Amino acid sequence: MSAPVFRRPAAAGPPQPREESVEKVTGAARYAYEYPQQEAAYAWIVTSPIAKGRVLTVDADHVLRSDDVIAVLRHDNAPRLEDVGDPALAVLQDPAVAYRGQVVALVVAKTPEAAREAAATLPVEYEELGHDVVLTPDHESLYQPDAVNPDYPADTEQGDPDGAFEASPVRVDHTYRTVALHNNPMEPHATTALWHDDGSLTLYDSNQGGHVVRQTIAGLFGLAPDRVRVMNPHVGGGFGSKGTPRPNVVLAAMAAQVTGRPVKIAVTRQQMFSLVGYRTPTIQRVRLGAEADGRLNSITHEVVEQTSTVKEFAEQTAVATRSMYAAPHRRTSHRLARLDVPVPSWMRAPGECPGFFAFESALDELAAELGMDPIDLRVRNEPETDPESGKPFSSRNLVACLRQGAERFGWEPRPRAPRTRRDGRWLIGTGVASSYYPTYEAPATATVSADENGHHTVAINATDIGTGARTALHQLAAEALDVPWADVTVRIGDSDLPQAGLAGGSMGTRSWGWAVTKACRALREQGGGSVTANTAEDIKALGEYSRAAYGAQFVEVRVNQDTGELRVPRMTGVFAAGRIVNSRTARSQFIGGMTMGLSMALHEEGVMDAAFGDYANHDLASYHVAACADVGTMDIAWIEEDDEHLGGTGTKGIGEIGIVGTAAAVANAVYDATGVRVRDLPIHLEDLL
Ligand code: MOS
Repeated sequence: MSAPVFRRPAAAGPPQPREESVEKVTGAARYAYEYPQQEAAYAWIVTSPIAKGRVLTVDADHVLRSDDVIAVLRHDNAPRLEDVGDPALAVLQDPAVAYRGQVVALVVAKTPEAAREAAATLPVEYEELGHDVVLTPDHESLYQPDAVNPDYPADTEQGDPDGAFEASPVRVDHTYRTVALHNNPMEPHATTALWHDDGSLTLYDSNQGGHVVRQTIAGLFGLAPDRVRVMNPHVGGGFGSKGTPRPNVVLAAMAAQVTGRPVKIAVTRQQMFSLVGYRTPTIQRVRLGAEADGRLNSITHEVVEQTSTVKEFAEQTAVATRSMYAAPHRRTSHRLARLDVPVPSWMRAPGECPGFFAFESALDELAAELGMDPIDLRVRNEPETDPESGKPFSSRNLVACLRQGAERFGWEPRPRAPRTRRDGRWLIGTGVASSYYPTYEAPATATVSADENGHHTVAINATDIGTGARTALHQLAAEALDVPWADVTVRIGDSDLPQAGLAGGSMGTRSWGWAVTKACRALREQGGGSVTANTAEDIKALGEYSRAAYGAQFVEVRVNQDTGELRVPRMTGVFAAGRIVNSRTARSQFIGGMTMGLSMALHEEGVMDAAFGDYANHDLASYHVAACADVGTMDIAWIEEDDEHLGGTGTKGIGEIGIVGTAAAVANAVYDATGVRVRDLPIHLEDLL
């Protein structure tokens, strides 16, 4: 593999290919399930077919007759876990069943085939209770959570939002719904677990952060954290579902302990739909009151969403609305229904993504009501400072994204009546929406050392979930050291390396790159040897600014007026996300986010079957994720942003903002094409006929 000599980047870094790309496409890159082990055993998860009740009996003898079956773990014989902070990880600890698809047993066998066969035939008897799985806007269990993810207030209010709404000459008041969306990274969750004679544990685990897995597993098994080593040099995607440890890693460690063998476990694609989190469905009422010139008087965004009985997850659906546009009177709220459903969790831009579908759709409805161009409406409500915190923006280039996007896309200013452009039987429409994603960072430690030949090794327990993070860190290290690309090796994905936070919240490269750059700069000053740097104090010293990435999404749709068939021939996304380290992988991240947003708008739908108490579609045949044939031309650009208040490497984060706003832009384009306003995602053909 040859790589160009690193040059100090200007605004955007060079289009460096992923350094592990050849390993990946040749199959040399190892994933969690693929580490060869002597005498490996294979575990298969057995899940509950009932949504609520309890396990009465598990007839293990029935399957233990097979010579290939080694063990069956149940609630009454599985190792007891210590210190269960996350109730979703308390697997096989009691007979209660809280949702369909919950783990009720684990079969361990000499081959995966034998394990699968035994799991399929294992007799389990249940006592079944009635379940409640359907989210309604007035569900009797609705409550206000103490906070929403990760720690925002559930409710906010400024001024008199109801009075100001009523007094506004132009108003929209609509309810939008999003469905459950299921994280489906290419690589399902998987673990290979291996206990050593000295009582330590090695886990090859597919996750978005080995440090949190180490801490959690150490706690569950009563070990000192340094007795657990978590390796994840290659991870095949996560989208948030691998941000926290999942039952597979606990079960693998348990099974390896019980059998005395290395154990491999992979969550099946079908099991992914209940065991790894999903995007909660939402019901969102948005009210906007404006003056005739488009100035917003009142914004209210009230959210109802679901959580589980096992564990609370409160998505921050309306939080981004707080910081987006100026308006003196404002309210946001979140209410949760506790249902007998799997535990919802993070999925790419949890909160911002479904929230902006509703909010940015409502703005489009307001623009139509006002007879105003939707870009002008957004520009008119551009705030001077963060409307929620009052803090100055470190940089905010939303208007530049909208303007540059309009130019690139060929946006025709409004007003114009919907359903006025066509090409034969195809109705043509265009839509726009804004994007926003907060800039987060977490402390990290990196070590860099130089050997006598001038070769540098950077070590940090970062995680590359397929984004190109490893390559970006390599670029940042070479830049800070001012040495050629080939003189740097980057080691990541091993919990024995210096501590680093999650590949999540779009903060991986920002957080790790900061530590890497700091260590490399210090080493350069020192003139060799080895340096370890930590960023905790630097992060504390960040100024009081509102830091976020912004973007604008433009979409063209074509709708067949006879069949309702909907095509998206082209999309444009323009982003302002601080410094872009690697123009090639950054572009891929934006394309990926926008593709996922398109998928949310048109395809992905967890369909709840109220009778069975579960999402009825459990695989990629019945749960369609946008494929290449669904995606047209993607035009991606970014604003050159040199933001001195970001600290570190001047990056904001790009993993999530691409999805935010995309679904609204699609729905807004569908309205322009057809005159039909679809407020419930996904958009179905029959909505348009
Ligand atoms: Mo992302 S949902 O923060 O992994």
